[in-house]
Amino acid sequence: MPVIRKIMPTELPLYRAHLLRLDRADRYARFTGTLSDDAVERHCAAIDWGRTTLVGAFLNGELRGAVELCGDRILWPNQAEFGISVEKELQGKGVGSTLVRRVLTVARNRGVRHVHMMCMAGNVRMRALARRFGGRLALDCGEITAQFELPPPNQFSLALEALEDGTGAFNSILAGVSGAHREPIAA
Ligand SMILES: CC(C)(COP(=O)(O)OP(=O)(O)OC[C@H]1O[C@@H](n2cnc3c(N)ncnc32)[C@H](O)[C@@H]1OP(=O)(O)O)[C@@H](O)C(=O)NCCC(=O)NCCS
Repeated sequence: MPVIRKIMPTELPLYRAHLLRLDRADRYARFTGTLSDDAVERHCAAIDWGRTTLVGAFLNGELRGAVELCGDRILWPNQAEFGISVEKELQGKGVGSTLVRRVLTVARNRGVRHVHMMCMAGNVRMRALARRFGGRLALDCGEITAQFELPPPNQFSLALEALEDGTGAFNSILAGVSGAHREPIAA
């Protein structure tokens, strides 16, 4: 099982490498369109860490899946959107679901009430995943938009994020110490 934890700004090269490793179809699905390597590099360089949170899935120290949550308190108060990607060998194992669940908790704890996600109409996995977390799906010119309505944060959601941050840090240390062969503590 991969270690799930937030990605730090200093780990941007890992995120860039992950996005560049996505095959053509997955990259297309992630960005709802064709994106060259240069455009992926530009996307990463333009990340504003003041309004972006990245949560990643690390396997043997490599970032193999990530969800990118972006918001803008001034232009887009109480709203945010996310994009997600999981590399082929980890797909269909619940990693995407875990990443979405985690990022929705992060958004909720930042006071975000509406989270948006966009994917291609034929993206069966993403549609299933969005539905599972209560996303309201709508078809818009061949693309699906999903809207998640979040409740306000409470003591439990705040404690959950703190607990999962701690578990992620601890599991990262364990993975490093053990050469990454130790099973992480379930989050
Ligand atoms: C979409 C994506 C993030 C899903 O990640 P994942 O780790 O494969 O997702 P999970 O294993 O958690 O499965 C998600 C759902 O798809 C379903 N699923 C898994 N494998 C499937 C398959 N082969 N066919 C249909 N559905 C499948 C799961 O049952 C689950 O549905 P459920 O929640 O109702 O049980 C991943 O496939 C991906 O990175 N795709 C390319 C990028 C992309 O499409 N991003 C979305 C747009 S931003």
